[in-house]
Amino acid sequence: MTSYVAAIDQGTTSTRTMIFDHSGQVVAADQREHEQIFPQAGWVEHDAEEIWSNTRAVAAGAIAKADLHTSDIAAVGITNQRETTLVWDRRTGKPVYNAIVWQDTRTDQIVTELGELGSASGAGGRGGGQERYREKTGLPLATYFSGPKIKWILDNVDGARQRAEAGDLLFGNMDTWLLWNMTGGPDGGMHVTDPTNASRTLLMDLDTLSWDEGIAADMGIPLSMLPEIRSSSEEYGRVRAKGALAGVPIAGILGDQQAATFGQACLEVGEAKNTYGTGNFVLLNTGTEKVLSRNGLLTTVCYKLGDKDTVYALEGAIAVTGSLVQWLRDNLGMLGSAAEIEQHARSVEDNGGAYFVPAFSGLFAPYWRSDARGAIVGLTRFVNKGHLARAVLEATAYQTREVIEAMNADSGVPLKSLKVDGGMVVNELLMQFQADILDVPVIRPQVNETTALGAAYAAGLAVGFWAGEDDIRRNWAKDKQWDPAMDADQRERLYRQWKKAVTKTFDWVE
Ligand code: G3P
Repeated sequence: MTSYVAAIDQGTTSTRTMIFDHSGQVVAADQREHEQIFPQAGWVEHDAEEIWSNTRAVAAGAIAKADLHTSDIAAVGITNQRETTLVWDRRTGKPVYNAIVWQDTRTDQIVTELGELGSASGAGGRGGGQERYREKTGLPLATYFSGPKIKWILDNVDGARQRAEAGDLLFGNMDTWLLWNMTGGPDGGMHVTDPTNASRTLLMDLDTLSWDEGIAADMGIPLSMLPEIRSSSEEYGRVRAKGALAGVPIAGILGDQQAATFGQACLEVGEAKNTYGTGNFVLLNTGTEKVLSRNGLLTTVCYKLGDKDTVYALEGAIAVTGSLVQWLRDNLGMLGSAAEIEQHARSVEDNGGAYFVPAFSGLFAPYWRSDARGAIVGLTRFVNKGHLARAVLEATAYQTREVIEAMNADSGVPLKSLKVDGGMVVNELLMQFQADILDVPVIRPQVNETTALGAAYAAGLAVGFWAGEDDIRRNWAKDKQWDPAMDADQRERLYRQWKKAVTKTFDWVE
């Protein structure tokens, strides 16, 4: 009897394997961090071979901790940091360059040029500039997405373009890289992705779920490099690599934010979640209807289960939230551990007038400004470490309000409550402030590991371990709720000041 499902969660800072039982409870987990490589300002890279080696290690670690055998695992699902871009040689399995991480802004020039080449009547867009590919892909032209990163690699790595054109190179996000290696690598590895990941490349047509030849041609990307797009929940193949999961069916792939939406059981139109990770990502299920944003949000695939209809989402992607706390710890040495921030923030009554706008990767939703850079404003001699700690936490909550306001405007239906998950939701001060600044209740589930859980659900559904979506709804349970308690005047005054602070970051990069 196979009694468990495993999930591999390949995130921005670490890789984890988690094992879940039928009630969606975590049975065991193992995790390893990988190096963050910053070759120059605005560049962020990962060593993809380190990530693959960590993946094997944590899979073995989790199985050992749970004291299980491979035959106890019904299926494995993969979830991953989205957009992070890798190109490798199909014969040797060697990456031609480090993975370029979603936060990386080096494609700024490429993105501007692609926008300038577009005209109002051009390649299927609603107009030129940043909106050039919006109608087809649901996305603005921005450094965040994979397509321009592939172009950068082909333009800048010696010989890469010729090798790509000869059919020797493959592109993948981290889901595809892991699946390819797990299913044999150079020896017949499967080159596959799912629509949630593909919808973040700027290369996929949101209606047909296929690669758009015109956009690929605009970016000079040979179609032979691109993986096959399959559904998010089906048996793709079995693990062929030696090790803990050998022989187990790989049956689910979801980008991590879509996985969290699934794991939070946001399965009905109008249900939304916010994950507090390195960045924050609010996803609103819009059902089988693709809603194009007029307020700076992304339209993305939420999930596609086997041959069922595609479910779409509106997404507010915020680049820097939890990673600002890490920056305070690692770059400034202001904290011994990330958890310490709450204690510093509690040492003061309020932010003392300080606002910290962490535009480290420019600003994502709802602004999409790659010319912005981070700023701390409102400083006086009164401001101390506690105030700055508060300003850092408050930045997460204000940025979330900005994307929720955009969502309310796009959907015409104000959000009534917000389900939350991710690393920062253990921070009680932040959760209360979030409810205060949004003026809606914030709700945390009992199983906070919603990203891995979502990938496990996708895999488990495909092999019949879970019968259907009702199982997922039944497994979801509330842990804690924070209700708004701030008076309206104070809420609006703080938010007004924040909006003013944001404008100070604009036009920084020339
Ligand atoms: O779009 C980027 C997102 O997928 C990264 O998520 O949790 O790895 O920071 P996370």
